[in-house]
Amino acid sequence: MRAEAETRKPARPGQSAAERFGVIARPPLEWNAEVERETAHLYERVRHHIPEFEWPVYAPYVAAINRLKAERGAVILAHNYQTPEIFHCVADIVGDSLQLAKEAGKVDADIIVQCGVHFMAETSKLLNPEKTVLIPDMKAGCSLSESITGADVRLLRERYPGVPVVTYVNTSAEVKAETDICCTSSNAVQVVESFGVDTVLCIPDEYLAQNVAAQTDVKILTWKGHCEVHERFTAEELQAYKDADPEIEIIAHPECPVEVVEMADYAGSTAGMINYVRDQRPPKVLLVTECSMASNIQSEVPEVEFVKPCNLCPHMKRITLPKILDSLCEMKEEVTVDPSIAARARRAVERMVNLKQ
Ligand code: 13P
Ligand code: SF4
Repeated sequence: MRAEAETRKPARPGQSAAERFGVIARPPLEWNAEVERETAHLYERVRHHIPEFEWPVYAPYVAAINRLKAERGAVILAHNYQTPEIFHCVADIVGDSLQLAKEAGKVDADIIVQCGVHFMAETSKLLNPEKTVLIPDMKAGCSLSESITGADVRLLRERYPGVPVVTYVNTSAEVKAETDICCTSSNAVQVVESFGVDTVLCIPDEYLAQNVAAQTDVKILTWKGHCEVHERFTAEELQAYKDADPEIEIIAHPECPVEVVEMADYAGSTAGMINYVRDQRPPKVLLVTECSMASNIQSEVPEVEFVKPCNLCPHMKRITLPKILDSLCEMKEEVTVDPSIAARARRAVERMVNLKQ
């Protein structure tokens, strides 16, 4: 049942999202004929991953989230690493970091629920300062984002005066604020080359920087940050898969170590990897990235056999259907950006988004 506030109250300084929009009590979560009917078309998208006998556990959440989303006028943005029931059943927009950053700037809703990690929600807030951005679990972090601070970037600037600083979007707003421009794995080479200079700092992902360096004449200086999911892949592991089946195609994310990316038939952002599989339809593919992504595209390309070394991102996996429901009911957790850094961080993201493709 609804508690207060059918409509949005005018905001007063310091008011929480719950105060502005009102709290809605958690609806009853029953598996019944209505829920079954409402979610039948969505189950078709995930039937390869969720056994029929388990659907009655998921479906009441899916139905409740979709009803509440409409009632709140909210939009759910989900990264490609979210689990299939989130990706296929409740998300309005899915994509890689760059796509989500761009879409976040276009959405027409008052409320954005970001199903992904904190830096992604912060980027949405930067591009939509007037909107309410929620993340279902504030602890959904990222090892890359946590590898560097704004003070570190200021020290790098002192050490390398005049060298442009390109910062991966997998960073906090505080770090973005110290930077010239952001990049993602899908545009990093283009961003680095956009300065027309011979040396660029590309931080904080050491492996992404090395993979970019392999594709450009620009000298790349970097930092020692790593993705805790992608750094675990090794060339020996990939070789073992190739030895077992020489026909297997390997596609890897550029956050992997260089020797891993060198073994890949294709390397690119999560969206790039999905497009590669969609377009090429390799009979058998090894996805060298977070495990949920293969599950998310499998239903679209049933003829492709996926080999997935199951490395899960513990941060992405903090986002669950019950937490999304609570987020919409209680208008939590609200993502804010310190006004003293927001304008500078926004400029770095907007420069990237506005770069001509
Ligand atoms: P993409 O930009 O390729 O979606 O990557 C984001 C990420 O966190 C990969 O680990
Ligand atoms: Fe961060 Fe790696 Fe998780 Fe992506 S997969 S969010 S880079 S820890």
